Amino acid sequence: MNIPYEMQEATEKLLEKRSISKIRDCVFSICERYNNESGQGKVLVKTPEEAVSYAISRMPGTFGAVKSAVCAFKEALEPFFDAHPEALPKTLADIGAGTGAAVWAVASEFELSHITCFERESSMTEIGKHMLSYGNEAMKNAAWVQGDAIGGNTEKADLVTASYIMNELKPSDRDAFLNNLFETSDGAVILLEPGTRAGFKNILYARDFFTKKGAIVVAPCTHSSACPLPADDWCHFACRMQRSKTQKFVKGGDAPYEDEKFAYLAVLIPGDGVMGSFFDTRGRGCGLIFDDMTAEATEEGYARIIRHPQINKGFVELKLCSGKGIETVKVTSRDKAEFKIARKAEWGERKKMTP
Ligand SMILES: C[S@@+](CC[C@H](N)C(=O)[O-])C[C@H]1O[C@@H](n2cnc3c(N)ncnc32)[C@H](O)[C@@H]1O
Repeated sequence: MNIPYEMQEATEKLLEKRSISKIRDCVFSICERYNNESGQGKVLVKTPEEAVSYAISRMPGTFGAVKSAVCAFKEALEPFFDAHPEALPKTLADIGAGTGAAVWAVASEFELSHITCFERESSMTEIGKHMLSYGNEAMKNAAWVQGDAIGGNTEKADLVTASYIMNELKPSDRDAFLNNLFETSDGAVILLEPGTRAGFKNILYARDFFTKKGAIVVAPCTHSSACPLPADDWCHFACRMQRSKTQKFVKGGDAPYEDEKFAYLAVLIPGDGVMGSFFDTRGRGCGLIFDDMTAEATEEGYARIIRHPQINKGFVELKLCSGKGIETVKVTSRDKAEFKIARKAEWGERKKMTP
């Protein structure tokens, strides 16, 4: 996957009048800080120079991860959005927006009319504003609100995103943060974390938090029942991003691409907005959402492929997660149609269950 041309242009502009070697040094110091000081509520990117380094080194991977999550969200709700195009998200609140990577990703999938970027650090905000000034009208006009994601409220939005912020918070602040996302959303929340055990733990925590409040899980899980993974297992996904010359230099190494690993969660939130109105009076999904999202309990439901498919001579093994639990399915070449599909299947894709 490539980042949008305009985003690349905005990134290259950041380097004008700046020393690229200094930017590279900052990338290494930020990395060290992220490795040693995450999860303590600390400020990890401090200066404008560091924010530039963050934008150059992290924005492409984050863009790819958020876009992948948004696409999974869209795919799961396709029948609903086809029948009710008026329910497509038009407003976005990005919490812990940083330099705006998630905004670029959402704007590449939905036609947004209003965007709020909620961010605590002015160094990130400054670079984020520059980056979004290369986007469409809604991005250029985004409202940047300075505040704390733990308590600071912002205007409600159809879709609320929060990428790679929860892992920076103190564990004792997680509930207040999640509650803030829930209260800000008028339809859906998409949360992303690094594709690590710790990142997945946060996602699982958020999944429990939201479902207890009546949310419906849309992706990656094809069901809202308890996560069927054993306690020592975890699930994450990956997307491959092309690397620019600048990125190769600041991150070191010659590989033309990088694999961004991420864990994510997309949920529908009961509320007063157009998406929220598809919940019934008991706060349960109804109509198209309900039929589609509960179908996993039946033979016609969907599963998520949660590992790289194992392609062998004459058969493919797929590790699937669905409302029925975790299962490894063996598709043999005797079943020609299914085998053809299974051979092309990819980690992270949704798969229709066959009876
Ligand atoms: C790792 S960056 C991610 C930025 C952006 N969401 C992305 O994915 O590229 C985390 C961002 O969250 C912001 N942040 C961390 N804790 C925050 C808090 N309590 N309130 C508001 N913003 C916060 C940081 O300043 C930083 O910009």
